[in-house]
Amino acid sequence: MPVELMVTTPLPGAGAGGYGNRTVCITGAGGFIASWLVKLLLRRGYTVRGTLRNPDDPKNAHLRELDGAVDRLVLLRADLLDPVSLEAAFRGCDGVFHTACPVTDDPEKVVEPAVKGTQNVIHAAADVGVRRVVFTSSIGAVYMNPNRNPDEVVDETCWSDLEYCKNTKNWYCYGKTAAERGAWDAAAERGVDMVSVNPAVVVGPLLQPTVNASTAHVAKYLTGSARTYVNAAQAYVHVRDVAEAHVRVYESPGARGRYLCAESTLHRGELCRILTKLFPEYSVTNRCKDEANPPKKGYKFSNQRLQELGIEFTPVRQCLYETVKSLQEKGLLPVLS
Ligand SMILES: NC(=O)c1ccc[n+]([C@@H]2O[C@H](COP(=O)([O-])OP(=O)(O)OC[C@H]3O[C@@H](n4cnc5c(N)ncnc54)[C@H](OP(=O)(O)O)[C@@H]3O)[C@@H](O)[C@H]2O)c1
Repeated sequence: MPVELMVTTPLPGAGAGGYGNRTVCITGAGGFIASWLVKLLLRRGYTVRGTLRNPDDPKNAHLRELDGAVDRLVLLRADLLDPVSLEAAFRGCDGVFHTACPVTDDPEKVVEPAVKGTQNVIHAAADVGVRRVVFTSSIGAVYMNPNRNPDEVVDETCWSDLEYCKNTKNWYCYGKTAAERGAWDAAAERGVDMVSVNPAVVVGPLLQPTVNASTAHVAKYLTGSARTYVNAAQAYVHVRDVAEAHVRVYESPGARGRYLCAESTLHRGELCRILTKLFPEYSVTNRCKDEANPPKKGYKFSNQRLQELGIEFTPVRQCLYETVKSLQEKGLLPVLS
């Protein structure tokens, strides 16, 4: 199966007269999703500014190797908590893709950069006249609500309950929900044209040299560090599809509101079974941590709005295959015979 960039349906607006000659900025450009977004935007002819907290850190070197980077990628130092650095990065840009956010459940690390950082991004974009902001939210801002009917399909009208996130110590979901709510309010107040993409657990090949939280979620079953799997189900999506979703909502003049980005929902046991079938040489656990209860179902998510924009989602089995091959190719997972 191919591990290279493959856009299934041609994106609208590419080339001369389209969006491809514009300048856009991506916050947190060295991250897992952002790196793919930079790659795709460069491929489409954009001039790209990427913000990094430390442009000299070797972990960001892969960005300079991307096709088109020499001529059309500029890396700038910026921190979400420093509005002046954001304004400098956004000045002259047609669009901003705000992807930067720590992916952790540590409230000390996630809440302020998520909430205050996103406010800073919206205000900086408004101050320098950015045309559209695409905000990378999460399905963590969508489904966390104890009163939700588990049989109902979750769509863009659904919101996570902040109190529930707090009470269950889901600080990442809390941060993303508060950040997205605050972003919509600030965008309305400042007249910023904002669109959000709300991805499920993102997997697929890595461009960056280190494992990020969502690929670690797969890697831990192959390294043997997870001796059991939890009784939980989650939705997954391919990183290329997430990057493409960002570009499509940016380039579609009629795009509005939230776009859920999820392929399909899997119980963790099913994920382990798929990994075992694809890669039988690893000892992937087949034991659930919770032997007392039936398997939890997990929500089904509607990806209808992105399908209407032309996204063809990669099946989750291929997502998992490409994740593991990439971890092997990058030396992040031993290749067993
Ligand atoms: N991966 C998923 O499964 C998933 C699912 C749904 C939504 N998302 C969202 O997608 C976005 C990217 O996630 P990812 O998985 O690609 O994460 P990642 O690889 O961990 O990258 C996160 C990026 O955020 C940057 N960052 C963190 N705090 C910052 C701050 N104070 N100022 C500036 N930059 C900061 C990091 O920069 P440093 O390198 O300097 O730390 C890093 O580049 C996040 O908004 C996340 O919430 C991810």
